[in-house]
Amino acid sequence: MQEAIILVGGKGTRLRPLTNHTPKPLLNVAGSSFIRHQIAKLMDAGVEHVVFATSYLASLFEEEFKDFSQDLAISYAVEEVPLGTGGAIRNAGRLLRGDSADAPVLVLNGDILSGVDLGGIVELHESREADVTLHLTRVPDPRAFGLVPTDEAGRVLSFLEKPKTTEECVTDQINAGCYVFRRSVLDAIPADREVSVEQETFPQLVAAGRRVFGHTTEDYWRDLGTPLAFVHGSADLVAGKVASPLVDRPTDALIHPTAVIDPTARVTGGSTIGPHAVIGARVVVNRSIIGGSVTVAEGAQIHESVVDHDSSIGSESILREVVVGCHSHVGAQNELPAQLRLSCGIRIPAQGVRVSGTAAACLTAH
Ligand code: GDD
Ligand code: MG
Repeated sequence: MQEAIILVGGKGTRLRPLTNHTPKPLLNVAGSSFIRHQIAKLMDAGVEHVVFATSYLASLFEEEFKDFSQDLAISYAVEEVPLGTGGAIRNAGRLLRGDSADAPVLVLNGDILSGVDLGGIVELHESREADVTLHLTRVPDPRAFGLVPTDEAGRVLSFLEKPKTTEECVTDQINAGCYVFRRSVLDAIPADREVSVEQETFPQLVAAGRRVFGHTTEDYWRDLGTPLAFVHGSADLVAGKVASPLVDRPTDALIHPTAVIDPTARVTGGSTIGPHAVIGARVVVNRSIIGGSVTVAEGAQIHESVVDHDSSIGSESILREVVVGCHSHVGAQNELPAQLRLSCGIRIPAQGVRVSGTAAACLTAH
């Protein structure tokens, strides 16, 4: 039986306020929660049992899957106190059902959107008789990731999580957050304390000369942990730049059947429009996620942004790379710049914020 563990206990701090009430893997991308895309991909790869390693807002995962009736067993390993990525893997290992010490166990970070062939990694792992196989990818700026140089045979030479200096950036090859563990290696991780698989387990296994291999691919790959990566990942799923068994056919925009879109509005770039949203005349929504019951008034422009459910955007306002928390209101003629995050329930009056050369309005009587 092929089994997998998904690490979903993180707080998703870089995605606040979206993650204030919803764990990152349960956020909606391309019409389904992200974790459902991952589950569907695991099932396609022949996985029959998944253990969720949960901690932050743990009960919401059981709620999400309470009516799940497909051919996949799901277990929950709840950490009262977060055990770190390594501790979480070991703790979830208690719930695995296979009893072979050599069985290959897939382990996934809960925020990775990737086109890699999971079954192919397991096959490679077994053919090399590896202790651990790591999926690796190359990125232009590796500083936010785990650096993993390998030799010509793919053997991992070292593992350095989040290098601090440019001298430490010895490679652009990084840990892609998907592993295959030999079961006995996973069982040897301490479970009674916090352990980082990146800072402790992998460096120790490499130093001890264990068979740790990398599998570097050029498949589509993205960590959805930041707002911009999150909107781009969602748009890429909708537009078919990366496949998911849950996305039938690529399209320019995924619009819920209950949403009302004015015929003069342009919704493009793989944007998603949620249920009961109302998009007004001449509105532009590009590469963005518009949540349920959101209203966008005439002439507003929303680029590479997320507007969470039950919020409203006033006429002629412009948003670029912005996250708007739920139940918020952005009045008319605002111009919200990149990296701005609006807390849930906030209200910005009309003409309250501008960043372009146009002077801000004077709204007081002198
Ligand atoms: N159960 C549990 N318990 N899960 C956790 C815990 C914990 O204590 N801490 C983190 N996680 C989960 C998160 O929910 C996420 O799915 C995964 O572990 C990785 O955590 P992130 O916070 O997303 O880490 P990162 O993106 O900074 O770095 C990781 O991913 C990179 C690839 O995207 C590392 O694995 C890097 O080495 C890697 O390059
Ligand atoms: Mg991450």
